[in-house]
Amino acid sequence: MTFDTDISDLTEADARSELKKLAALLGKANADYHGMDAPTFDDAEYDRLKRRNSKLEAAFPKLMRKDSPTTKVGAVPSDGFSKVTHAVAMLSLSNAFEDDDVEDFDIRIRKYLGIEKDIPLSYTAEPKIDGLSLSLRYENGVLVQAATRGDGAVGENVTTNARTISDVPHTLQDAPAVLEVRGEVYMAQSDFDALNQSQTAKGGKVFANPRNAAAGSLRQLDSNITRSRPLRFFAYAWGELSAPLADTQHGGIKRLSAFGFSTNSLTVLCDGPKAMIAQYRKIEKQRANLGYDIDGVVYKVNDLALQARLGFRSTTPRWAVAHKFPAELAWTRLEGIDIQVGRTGALSPVARLQPVNVGGVVVSNATLHNEDYIAGRGAKGGEIRGGRDIRVGDWVQIYRAGDVIPKIADVDLSKRPDDAVAFEFPTVCPECGSLAARDEGDAVRRCTGGMICPAQIVENLKHFISRGAFDIDGLGAKQVEQFHIDGWVSEPADIFTLRDRFGQGLQQLKNREGWGEKSATKLFDAIDEKREIGFGRVLFALGIRHIGEAASNLISGHYGTWNALETALDQAGDLEGEAWEELLGIDGVGTVMAGSLVHAFAQPTERGAIDRLVAHLNIAEVKALDTSNSPVAGKTVVFTGSLEMMSRAEAKARAESLGAKVSGSVSTKTDILVAGPGAGSKAKKAAELGIQTMDEAGWFDLIKGL
Ligand code: IVH
Repeated sequence: MTFDTDISDLTEADARSELKKLAALLGKANADYHGMDAPTFDDAEYDRLKRRNSKLEAAFPKLMRKDSPTTKVGAVPSDGFSKVTHAVAMLSLSNAFEDDDVEDFDIRIRKYLGIEKDIPLSYTAEPKIDGLSLSLRYENGVLVQAATRGDGAVGENVTTNARTISDVPHTLQDAPAVLEVRGEVYMAQSDFDALNQSQTAKGGKVFANPRNAAAGSLRQLDSNITRSRPLRFFAYAWGELSAPLADTQHGGIKRLSAFGFSTNSLTVLCDGPKAMIAQYRKIEKQRANLGYDIDGVVYKVNDLALQARLGFRSTTPRWAVAHKFPAELAWTRLEGIDIQVGRTGALSPVARLQPVNVGGVVVSNATLHNEDYIAGRGAKGGEIRGGRDIRVGDWVQIYRAGDVIPKIADVDLSKRPDDAVAFEFPTVCPECGSLAARDEGDAVRRCTGGMICPAQIVENLKHFISRGAFDIDGLGAKQVEQFHIDGWVSEPADIFTLRDRFGQGLQQLKNREGWGEKSATKLFDAIDEKREIGFGRVLFALGIRHIGEAASNLISGHYGTWNALETALDQAGDLEGEAWEELLGIDGVGTVMAGSLVHAFAQPTERGAIDRLVAHLNIAEVKALDTSNSPVAGKTVVFTGSLEMMSRAEAKARAESLGAKVSGSVSTKTDILVAGPGAGSKAKKAAELGIQTMDEAGWFDLIKGL
């Protein structure tokens, strides 16, 4: 049963039978959801079936079953592990796919550091292990804590489990007093096969691939289970250190190896992109025989002093990149095209596929991007796939690159069924019936229903409670969806009044499957915990278009307090004037982002919901950088002329990290002008205004030791 017959064509008997099957399927999906390491359904398919079930129940109310999936919130997660705040954030890596991307990586780094092409710059190249990262903290040579990456800032405390891994030393000789060793927990392919065989024999959980098996084994509440699983660990990086390990990445890895850690023997030093790409090809050839899964090669700047100068973007270091192996491909049948409505109203077509194994992962859905993509038109109006459109019934090629959502790469016209018809993209929202409009130059058609559209409301709520946002224990996408269906939560502020409103009606929640008094109280406690929350998280959680996690951090970092942001946005309402210029002056914030933010705060409905939410919160101030020792904190600095010791980008990043504001033009507000050779009109103007002027060496002298 594909659950896609037009509901108006169904007889009562058909609907009854569908509802029965849906109750069984969704019930199983809910149960499997606990073992997150072996989900049987992907989220999109689960959502589709859940929506189908709700629509059927709406059309045939008297057929609603006692075990209806709409009455189940899904089970509440187990106690789990305690949280660990990483002393140094655990970052991810940006990706390179083509050889040119590797060349660009080197060019970008040289440009940032101001290193000419003829000066050698070396990089380490090592396999990218397909496992999960782990941070091991040693104090005075003793393993005191092990934590998973989590969201990069806060991970799970898995110390007891990590101690059972034979590659993880419990004590170290001659190590710095504080040493955080980072690396990848993984499972060898042969161990994975054996584990799955024994799991099958005893009717236990079978894992989809070694990475899931490693994650599932490390995240066991019973450490005896972890002990029985053949986990391994490669060390490749470090976090907090009380003393440097070495001057170079390669030297650091050697130290880790000398401490007794397993380090990857395929780690080599390369003198530039050519050698890096050659090493990538070499590792790619050996990939099938390594005995463990890898999904690319990681390059890192070898000189640690240069790494420090390069620093980080919001979630990735500038000094490293992962060169991923090409995507895996497979052919299958396109069984249907569904339209999903997202948080911002975007109508996204999703391909429902005959399930197919693509490089070890069973794929049953793929993104179709937008209506032009289905029609065979590219972003700029030109043809893609030679203009071939995609139709239900087509034989299509699936493309899967790592954890990227699978895509349809191609369509085989020779296998197209005679009755296949071109897909007609809806012009009304399938969820609320509002007009779905497409702005000039926008590839995406959007529902214009705003907050009358249930899909947008639910997607907004899901975003609100997602990991980088409020991340409330026990309140996941499924629970929030259920709360919305039940009419308990229709905007974020409602989450914070749940306890009060349940004061009388706790029975209601208690009687639902998966909830007892204890778990309900626990949920309310978890919600209360999040009344005190970071500024950046709140801003990100609002789900304002174009304002992602990185932008939220930049903006909150700039304004410091919620009140300051609110005042600034109110003043910037007409998109001009000082407040508007100040917003645009934040490095990384452009007119589109700024406009969207101002618009959200100026819109009465959106603003009302924001204000109602904020009234329940105690939003932490973003503490300004500790620039108490910085002689340039709060000063406005202008760099001009050619800089010889650093690039413009580095000069700006460094000055800002010391609390200075960097401006492009000299005015009475300028405090310091750093003038390199060839400085012209700016130096002249600074002299006229009597502004303190220095050369690059003078600047370095000023910030020396910071
Ligand atoms: S370095 C600051 N090296 O890939 C950079 N990561 O996509 C820290 N990974 O979260 C990471 N092998 O779990 C590094 N040789 C390697 C790696 C590696 C696998 C994982 C790691 C990281 C993810 C980023």
